[in-house]
Amino acid sequence: MKILIINGPNLNLLGKREPEIYGNRTFEQFLAELQAGFPQIEIDYFQSNHEGALIDRIHEAGFSTDGIILNAGAYTHTSIALADAIAAVPAPVIEVHISNVHQREPFRHHSYLSAKCVGSIVGLGLEGYRLAVEYLESYK
Ligand code: DQA
Repeated sequence: MKILIINGPNLNLLGKREPEIYGNRTFEQFLAELQAGFPQIEIDYFQSNHEGALIDRIHEAGFSTDGIILNAGAYTHTSIALADAIAAVPAPVIEVHISNVHQREPFRHHSYLSAKCVGSIVGLGLEGYRLAVEYLESYK
């Protein structure tokens, strides 16, 4: 089984960026542990700060992987193009947000992506990615 995790803009700065909101760990540290915890699953990772690159990666993986875990960062709240990309591919997509966007500024309360995703995990920190892998493992 193959799963792709996609992180969008500014998530390359996890560990340094607003640690009171996003924590102290880099995504690379977390990813190594996640991969070790699921040795039976091939977990790939892609991060980009560019909307088009995220769309290209969804197109590429969306026909060949068993699931995509997507934290599109702020594009979540702005990008109809990303929503269309999710809708265009057969792979199930799980939306993840590290912070509880509903406790934050009103502009973070709306997601263009949620309606096109199988489900969303919000506000559980990096644990949200692990839960999404677990869910996809049993997804039919
Ligand atoms: C985020 C929440 C978004 O509102 C924000 O723009 C991010 C990170 C999260 O993981 O909590 O960059 O997606």
